[in-house]
Amino acid sequence: MPFPIERPRRMRGNEKLRSFIRETRLDASKLVYPLFACPGTKVKQEISSMPGNHRWSVDLLVEECREAAGLDIPAVILFGIPEKKDEVGSGAYDAQGIVQQATRAIKKALPELMVITDVCLCEYTSHGHCGVVKEGRVENDPSLDLLARTALSQVEAGADIVAPSDMMDGRVGAVRHELDSHGHTQVPILAYSAKYASAFYGPFREAADSTPQFGDRKSYQMDPANAREALREIALDIEEGADIIMVKPALPYLDIINAARFEFNVPIAAYQVSGEFALIAAASERGWVDRDRIILESLTCIVRAGADIVLTYFAKDVARLLAR
Ligand code: PBG
Repeated sequence: MPFPIERPRRMRGNEKLRSFIRETRLDASKLVYPLFACPGTKVKQEISSMPGNHRWSVDLLVEECREAAGLDIPAVILFGIPEKKDEVGSGAYDAQGIVQQATRAIKKALPELMVITDVCLCEYTSHGHCGVVKEGRVENDPSLDLLARTALSQVEAGADIVAPSDMMDGRVGAVRHELDSHGHTQVPILAYSAKYASAFYGPFREAADSTPQFGDRKSYQMDPANAREALREIALDIEEGADIIMVKPALPYLDIINAARFEFNVPIAAYQVSGEFALIAAASERGWVDRDRIILESLTCIVRAGADIVLTYFAKDVARLLAR
């Protein structure tokens, strides 16, 4: 039924009609707010490439979480900047580590807020790689034990969900086994399954001081050119026990989110990463784009592609915009 019978504009004439037929809606219950914990007290240090985001000492981090919870954001994901780094990233699996301390403090003050912990070594290793390094190579299997210990110590500190982001082969299975054998069968794993070796992580590495000291992450993170391989990575993580899978970054990888949506029946998360944040923040600071509209549009598109959950540094902005 072509024109003049069919007139798609008929359904766009006013906001009531548009809202009536809208296919995708954002709501705050899908959001995860990423936060950086650092040592000290009363520390609130802005990350220069991520304006509005800070490294927080635990006392102030709890207050930031309180604000997020007050905006109906259901979850935060924590990254740690440790006092000191070493070859084997021992700060990652130390019961007194920065993320463990932060987790305990947040869960004590705000038991209803879900704490997700990023399971990785790169913020804690002196070389900045996500696994153990031997003779200049990032070793897979020796890293699994440390990652599993990291997840366990985070759960023992009160983490509600653990999120392995290292991209070692077999790490989801190793984490699941470690948690189960200590009785934590009910703690879900959010696996960074299709995590690409992306230039969009630049600002994060400034924030977490986790730039690799030699080489790059291409031997473990995925090649941006590959889509079928992402589906294989996701399938493996599901087999190993992932409860939620993640695609990262988000906006440049909507095809991957969408393919995963049709291929798998598990919940899908997408991470609008630091570089995606920085591009929007910088352009809107210059008045080149409309900040609020572009935040809502980018997140709507990520959800439209198939994400159930979105990790975003704009979480508070989105929650405020949606509440208006
Ligand atoms: C740790 C980790 C990274 C990010 C999340 N977890 C950095 C990296 O892989 O280099 C990036 C998040 C962001 O850019 O916002 N492996």
